[in-house]
Amino acid sequence: MDKPRIIDLPKIFDPRGNLSFIENEKNIPFEIKRTYWIYDVPGGEKRGGHAYYHLQEFIVALSGSFDVVLHDGEKEFRFHLNRSYYGLYVPKMYWRELENFSTNSLALILADNDYNEDDYIRNFDNFKTIKNGK
Ligand code: TYD
Repeated sequence: MDKPRIIDLPKIFDPRGNLSFIENEKNIPFEIKRTYWIYDVPGGEKRGGHAYYHLQEFIVALSGSFDVVLHDGEKEFRFHLNRSYYGLYVPKMYWRELENFSTNSLALILADNDYNEDDYIRNFDNFKTIKNGK
């Protein structure tokens, strides 16, 4: 089973401004099928609060900062994202929440499949039951 992990992205330093990039299956461990972004988050709000049966994601703080809180059914892991040259790989079947958004933060999320509500687990107790095979 894949583990969540921070993945560093290429960073091309330039006095005119730096540049980073992601290429399909080279910098992240899946083929990108969809991208979406979360922005204009009011202070104190949270996004997420669900897991996916199959979807894998890669989350980058393109601007500002926020925390991604993951739960594997037993333990919680917190990742603080605040740079645009690395991101967090989130495998399938991790409960995930995004919180502590700074003002004007921008979360870019790359995903390996189309949006599909049937792939969501939106109840934490259900998630734990399924994940722990009970
Ligand atoms: P959701 O994934 O529940 O948001 P979050 O977990 O970040 O709070 O998505 C919120 C709504 O947006 C959901 O009702 C459906 C819609 N949506 C799409 O239509 N396409 C997408 O790619 C995403 C991510 C969401």
